[in-house]
Amino acid sequence: MSNFQSSLKGKTGILTGGTSGFGFAMAKELLAQGVELMVFSADELTDASRDELKSAAKTDFEYHVQDVTAPGASESMVERTVARFGRLDFAIVNAGFAIRFEEPLLGLPPAKLEEAMRAQFAVFPIAFASLALAAARVMAPRYETIAPDANGHRPDSGAVVVTLSEASLCPLRDDLLAYAAAKHASLSVMESLAAVLGPKNIRVNGIAPGFANTAGPRKFYDRFPNIRADIEAKTHLRPAFIDPGAVVPAVIHLLTDNYVTGQVIALDGGYHIELKRYFQDS
Ligand SMILES: NC(=O)c1ccc[n+]([C@@H]2O[C@H](COP(=O)([O-])OP(=O)(O)OC[C@H]3O[C@@H](n4cnc5c(N)ncnc54)[C@H](OP(=O)(O)O)[C@@H]3O)[C@@H](O)[C@H]2O)c1
Repeated sequence: MSNFQSSLKGKTGILTGGTSGFGFAMAKELLAQGVELMVFSADELTDASRDELKSAAKTDFEYHVQDVTAPGASESMVERTVARFGRLDFAIVNAGFAIRFEEPLLGLPPAKLEEAMRAQFAVFPIAFASLALAAARVMAPRYETIAPDANGHRPDSGAVVVTLSEASLCPLRDDLLAYAAAKHASLSVMESLAAVLGPKNIRVNGIAPGFANTAGPRKFYDRFPNIRADIEAKTHLRPAFIDPGAVVPAVIHLLTDNYVTGQVIALDGGYHIELKRYFQDS
């Protein structure tokens, strides 16, 4: 550990969307690294998942059912964390779901489009901005007063990490119109909050995973093998579908480095680079 990186040990964080996929992989590793964690998701954790987290954990964690889009959810998650652990050092804003349209966009009923847009904006940029700001209100008094070391660098910082998507970085397929719009908006929120919270010594960064090799997406791609083949063709690295655990080192880097803010680490095997090249060429 260099002077420019802080330790996760002894830190307390919030993680949303921890029952499966990326969030579960993050929870498991953070608990193994000695973080005190409050995990919030829409539904109950299964007994098997709870046992898996418990056996990985070196420290305490609590799991709560919480819809992140409910009124007052962000303040409540922060208050419960501080009440339980007495402090807050980071928030990982990960919860969410993708709405996929199965009809051509020109044939989409307007009410269906509007409902999808509202749902995706509620769960992504609105819930993100709300939780990041609620967390920052608690983190700021602690982190803005941390004195610089001999190099002029502060040896510790508060952190917010948001799970974005390759959909934040490039145009995506029609079926993901509402999802991609909301993920682009989350990128904008991330950059704005990085600028606002930087002076408070709180960093705001994101990860942008590619398509996941998890049960939900797998079912979808089984039904649409042409889409699977297109993703495979446009992804440079292998596998074309990311294992959820593969995002964890990037998340840990963004939680512990003290000088990176307003950045996105793309973990998509080159998919968005290929799409940029595709649109430049066409
Ligand atoms: N899968 C992909 O291909 C992909 C690619 C790029 C980015 N992402 C992003 O990665 C993040 C995690 O998704 P995942 O792929 O890991 O999917 P996942 O396995 O379905 O996990 C989603 C998590 O979010 C929770 N959640 C959903 N809506 C919620 C709400 N309103 N309030 C609280 N919790 C809620 C779910 O809780 P319950 O299980 O309790 O309902 C679950 O824990 C999302 O932001 C997603 O957009 C996914």
